[in-house]
Formats: sequence, structure tokens, C-alpha cells
Amino acid sequence: MNAFTELAGIELPIVQGPFGGGLSTVELLGTVSDGGGLGSYGAHILDGQGIVELVAACRARTRRPFNINLWVPQPGEPTAAADADKDRLRPYYAELGVEPPHEIAMPDHAEQLAAILESAPPIASFVMGIPDAGFLAAARERGILTFGTATTVEEAVAVQAAGMDAVVASGSDAGGHRGAFLRPVHESLVGTFSLIPQVAQAVSIPVVAAGGIADGRGIAAALLLGADAVQIGTGFLATEQSGAHPVHRAALRSERARTTVLTRLFSGRTARGIANEFVRDMVAFESDVPAYPAQNALMTPIRQRAAQRGDLELLNLWSGQSAALAGSADASEYLAQLREYLSAAADPNRS
Ligand SMILES: Cc1cc2nc3c(=O)[nH]c(=O)nc-3n(C[C@H](O)[C@H](O)[C@H](O)COP(=O)(O)O)c2cc1C
Repeated sequence: MNAFTELAGIELPIVQGPFGGGLSTVELLGTVSDGGGLGSYGAHILDGQGIVELVAACRARTRRPFNINLWVPQPGEPTAAADADKDRLRPYYAELGVEPPHEIAMPDHAEQLAAILESAPPIASFVMGIPDAGFLAAARERGILTFGTATTVEEAVAVQAAGMDAVVASGSDAGGHRGAFLRPVHESLVGTFSLIPQVAQAVSIPVVAAGGIADGRGIAAALLLGADAVQIGTGFLATEQSGAHPVHRAALRSERARTTVLTRLFSGRTARGIANEFVRDMVAFESDVPAYPAQNALMTPIRQRAAQRGDLELLNLWSGQSAALAGSADASEYLAQLREYLSAAADPNRS
């Protein structure tokens, strides 16, 4: 037991990272929570009703603690896309036989927060910012633990100052979107090995290390650097229980995953994924594409059709830098491998 496992009411210091954009599944969350870790679900694209139903489904799947994750909206998110932004993508729309979207619709964040309070999951985690004080106070009253995500020491200190219960320190090795919220992403790219000890020194709440951790050695290193637990994303994304497209999962388990890039091209917000033809062909527009959620909406029909076709050259193949270190393709077996490593490390009679 340590400060984090005690707080979260779990056995292993292992969190399955939440996946936004439809890549989380209740099955993966339940498998990890039942196996003694903390299963998570990225719910940022769900509306209030969707979140209430999700929490009920999670409760029906596992009796253990689980975590629901939301994105905090950032100031100035565009609600419309310019014609020039659509025109840039017209060759892809034409090739795939799809149309650009007519509007950019995002779930209402206040409604999402109200749904969290109403459905009261054991844990709610946040990325891209800190939810407002009124919500955090109400969550505390209802016994919902809240975790914040930090990409810098400054952000970790802000998460603690807001009264959140734990901080996920996300190094730039991590797959998926960067969660920087106090400074621009390019000023907030701290690698996991540099970030963890500095965050552990700066805060007194439990620290969960994220980014590039996928096997027992990574867990041991993170704990040695001062983390109380780890959050593994890519390693669980590569399992059969995740919602990743089969070609995405196969790419994570191939040599292609050795080459990842940080790109804004798929969503308008910087994220790490495996390099493919789309990011290479569009590289000149990295800083031109509109911010999230506008670019994300413009790319949705392209990504959906690419998924139908299983075309990995057009898909957003989110991945961290350690995909090659992932274990079994079955989430339950993978967690058992990590558990075995931890118990061997804790037993002085075993080499
Ligand atoms: C496909 C994908 C989607 C993700 N979506 C979210 C999300 O919605 N919210 C969040 O807090 N973290 C998200 N993350 C980050 C993970 O939860 C986790 O912190 C990260 O993957 C850890 O680094 P690793 O990929 O090197 O294991 C995502 C990661 C991936 C790979």
C-alpha cells in the first residue's frame, strides 16, 4: 500500500490511462479494475446523459473503483471553421467521398460536470486544465475523488492548490494529446524522467507518472523517481479490450511505432502518434490548421471513412514512445505480468 493505492482504494499502483475520442471501453476499464489496478474511461465526447449511462455501465461491470476522465475546455476554442481550413482538406474529402461537417458541435461542459456530480463515479480525472472551484467542492462533498493532469511542475502545483486529490504528471513521451494549460505546449514538453522527480518534490499529494511507461522496469523507475503510481496508456491501447481500430493496434505492435511525432494536424491540439502519410504530406500546415475543436471536426469525416477502410495512412495512430515495451495483447494477462514484476521486485528472496 502507498499513498495513492490507499487513496484510490486499489491494490496495484497502476492506472489504465483514459482514452478520449471513443477509444475507451467499459470492458477494458472493468478488466483493469477487477485485476487490482484502476480502470479509466475518457468521456470528453459524451454529453451529460451519456456520462450518466456510462457510469451506470461501469458500476454494472465492476465493483471496484474506476475513473471517468473529462477535458476542461480551454479559453478561445473556435466554434466555426473558415473556408480556407476546409479547402485545405478538400483533396482528402474528394478522395474518400465524404463532405466537410456543417457545424462544430461539442457537448456542454457544465452539463458534463453536473452528470459527474449526479452519477458520482468513485474518481473523476481531468486534463487540459482545472475544473472550477464550485465543482471541486461539490465533488468533495459527494465523496468523488478528483485527479488533475500536469505537464509541468507549475501545473502540478496549480492542481494541488485547487484542492485536487492526486496529480497525473504526464511527460512528453506519452501518447495522445498534450494537456498543457498554463503555457503553450511547445514550452511544456518535459520528458517523463525529468518531470516526475521535480513534481514529486514540489507537491505533497500523490503523483501518478505517465508517459513512456509500459513494463515493470518503467514502473520501478517511476516509483524510484518519486511517483506513487503509474498511468499506462499506449500499453493498454494495444490490448484487445481497447477501442482502438485493429490496424491501429497492429501498428502499435509493429516497428512503425518506433517513429512517433507530435502533431496538431488531426485535431488542432498537439498530440503524439505514429507518423504516417497524412502527417508527412500535411507537415507544412502544422501551425496553420485551426485550434481544437475546429480542426477535429473538419477531420472527423476523414478519420471515420479511413477507419471504415482500415487505411492507417489517414488515421490518427496515437501512440507514446514506448509502444514496443507493451506486454500481452490481453489486458488481464498484461496486468498480471505487471503484477508479477512488482511482486518479484518486492520479494528480496527472488532475483
Ligand atoms: C489514444 C489515446 C487517447 C488519450 N486520451 C486521453 C484523454 O482523453 N484524457 C486524458 O487525460 N489522457 C488521455 N490520454 C493519455 C493517457 O491516458 C496516458 O496518460 C498516456 O497514454 C500515458 O503515456 P503512454 O501512452 O506513453 O503510456 C490518451 C492517450 C492515448 C494513447
